[in-house]
Formats: sequence, C-alpha cells, structure tokens
Amino acid sequence: MKGKLQLEPIETASVDELRALQLKRLQATLAQAYANSPVYRAKFDQAGVRPEDCRQLSDLAMFPFTSKADLRESYPFGMFAVPREECVRIHASSGTTGKPTVVGYTKNDIDTWATVMARSIRASGAMPGDLVHVSYGYGLFTGGLGAHYGAERLGLTVVPFGGGQTERQVQLIHDFRPDIIMVTPSYMLAIADEFERQGLNPRESSLRVGIFGAEPWTNDMRAAIEQRMNMDAVDIYGLSEVMGPGVANECIETKDGPTIWEDHFYPEIVDPETGAPVPEGEFGELVFTSLTKEALPIIRYRTRDLTRLLPGTARTMRRMEKITGRSDDMMIVRGVNVFPTQIEELILKVRELAPHYQCILTRDGPLDALTVAVEARHDLLHDSEQARAAAERLAHEIKVYVGTTARIELRPAGGIERSLGKAKRVIDQRKL
Ligand code: DLL
Repeated sequence: MKGKLQLEPIETASVDELRALQLKRLQATLAQAYANSPVYRAKFDQAGVRPEDCRQLSDLAMFPFTSKADLRESYPFGMFAVPREECVRIHASSGTTGKPTVVGYTKNDIDTWATVMARSIRASGAMPGDLVHVSYGYGLFTGGLGAHYGAERLGLTVVPFGGGQTERQVQLIHDFRPDIIMVTPSYMLAIADEFERQGLNPRESSLRVGIFGAEPWTNDMRAAIEQRMNMDAVDIYGLSEVMGPGVANECIETKDGPTIWEDHFYPEIVDPETGAPVPEGEFGELVFTSLTKEALPIIRYRTRDLTRLLPGTARTMRRMEKITGRSDDMMIVRGVNVFPTQIEELILKVRELAPHYQCILTRDGPLDALTVAVEARHDLLHDSEQARAAAERLAHEIKVYVGTTARIELRPAGGIERSLGKAKRVIDQRKL
C-alpha cells in the first residue's frame, strides 16, 4: 500500500482565512498592475478607479475587464508588468485568426504554476511513486510543460511524450506502465482506439487515473472513458491568459466539478451580455483575476467560458460546474442556441454510435442547417440498418432535447479526423 500525499494547509483553511488572504493578494495585484503596466494604468484611469478603491473583495466589480483583444493590441509583451528580461518563460496560444496571445512568467510565476499543478495532480488521486505519461502538447501550448512541472514538483516520474505519434504512445504506455495519463479527452479516445487496433485491451492497461482538460467534455463522456479504460477520469481546467492548466481541478473523491485554486485565482461570474455580476450560483461567463502573478497580472479576464460557481465540497475553495461550452463555440441554428456538448451528451446515449463527432454548419437557402457527422461503433457497418436506425433516434433526441433539426451523417470508424490535442467540434461552412 502506497502512502498519501499531504494537502497544503490553505486547501482546508476556513473560508474567512481564505477571503482575508484573497483580499490582501488582490490589493497587492491591483497596485502592482497599476504601477507597472501602462495598459492597466490607462484602463484604470479611464474607468476612474484606483487600486486603493478596492477595500473588500466585492469592490473588484468596479474595475475594468481585460479581454483577449487587450492582449492582442499590446502584442507581444505590452501588458507585462515586469521588464521582459525578468521573464524566464514565454507561452502563446494560437488564435483562430491573426496574432497569437502571448503570456510571460517570472521565476516566481513558474514556481506558483508548478505548485497549483502539483496540487491539481494530487487532487486527481496521485500517489507517491506514480509514473505520469504526459500527452498534452509541449511547446508554446501551456498543457505539456504545465503538467510536466507539476508532476515533477510532486516528486513523480514524468514521461514527457507530448501529442501525436499515437502508435508509439500506446507502445510506451504498454511498456512503461504509467499510473496517470494527462491528455485531452478527445485524444484519449484516439489512444483507446489505437490500443484496440494493436490487439490490446484498454481496460487492462496500467493507467489508474486520467487528468483530462483543455476542451469541453461532458459527464457522459467521463462515464464512457472510465468504462472503456477502467480508470478514474478527472477534469482539469485552465487557460494561458490566467496561467495555463491548473487554475482549477476536480477532486477524485467527489468528481463534482473543478475546485478553483482560489488562493491564486479569484473567480467571478458575469452576465455575458452586460458584464454585470450575476447572483451567487447563477450561470454566466467566468471571469478571473490573478492574485499572485508577477509578469502578467490579469485583472477580470473575460474567459468566454460559461459555467456557474458552486460551494466547496472536498476543499474550502469554491468549485465551478463542468464547462458547458465557450460562448465562441455556441452555434445559433435557426435561432436556437446549440452547444457541441449538448450533442455529445445525446450521442453518448446511443449505444450504436461512437463518441467521435463534428457539428457542420451550412446554409440551406436563407436558413442555417446543422449536420452532425458521427461514427458508427467500430463493430457496426455505418450503412447498416441498425446504424441508420440509431441515427434516426439521435436526430429525434436532438429535436426533442435541443430543439433543433439536425441531419445525421453516419461515418465509418475513423471517418472523423482524430485530434492530437483539442478537438475541433464545430465546422462553420456558412461563410464560405
Ligand atoms: O487549454 C490550458 C490547459 C491545458 C487546460 C491542459 C487543461 C489541460 P488554452 O489553450 O489557452 O489553455 O485554452 C483555454 O480551453 O478558456 C476553455 O475554453 C478550454 N478549456 C480548458 N480546460 C477546459 C476544461 C489550455 N477542463 C481554453 N473543460 C479555456 C472545458 C476547457 N474547457
């Protein structure tokens, strides 16, 4: 029997203690941003607020938001609050259009990141001596190196595989016998397929825990992965602008939505249209303020991720509900709002279908049309009677539960392009 990894005292501190620490750190962050970042200074001045105006946590609502556009306009290093020379690392996230968003880290920032990532991996059920296989991409993407530093900080053994080369991934997982895998949930499915292709039973692999994130995935997907891999699947959340992975992580004992590491990242939920804070517990857009970052303090960053805040369970800190989608991913089909995760949930309920799918939007005259391309289960012909009946059932369910008409396009196993990282769920052909 292996020993246990100890929690940090703040993870189980009282709420009062946590709030006091947050206020102290928030005030210091606002002061530092105002003093050292011309972009923040101009934004605060324009809004007529000073760091001293923040006397309690709720005063944060007076301060202006930060968006991806602010980072783009100050590309590459204009929002940094320290000279570039004090950064030991740069990461960037590729936007769909134009310039990437660039973020920087001081030595202390890297240390903080490793701490919250170590905390995340421990919350996911890591044990001393575990071997961790990292399939998140290394490089400018924050996934690989973020996971890597956290696992090393915990004293675990890391295999820095990165994304791609699926055949070799499976070979090494088979030979090295890792306990934990860190990967996007969509790529986990591709790895599971590859296990089967090589004649290996994925349920018999050494993997005990999967730490999945970087893209939305549903609780039904969790159940499907846990079943198929015979492992615990936990959710890790984060974004480059706020730090990278490890802003929030689910605790394995509850699996009830990621716990936000609130001593470093202060969450708010606002109305995505008006920006006004919503009442406690209501849905809206997640907004984050960093409490300890040096190189790139982030004040009220609009994540575009939609969720709600929930009270703490396994830890003192609050949780966020599993992300239902990004406002950017929302499809509007003939006036009905549709998220890919809603489609995913319904696909997973149809036994004859595999959870590899894409939503394709086209124009049908003046109207929008939604096609859901989905694979039939690998042991079923995609044009068989059984598969076609399943597709009809899916279309019916989408009509009933989502409220929109969708055409189902059945594809054979492998017919949906596999992602090596984040899956592309929506293909919008309307603008072509
Ligand atoms: O995806 C960081 C990360 C790496 C998180 C590895 C988890 C694991 P970005 O590339 O900047 O950073 O993308 C951030 O991805 O705003 C969400 O829309 C989405 N996202 C990240 N984690 C989750 C999750 C990384 N667990 C964007 N559930 C975020 C749903 C997620 N969406």
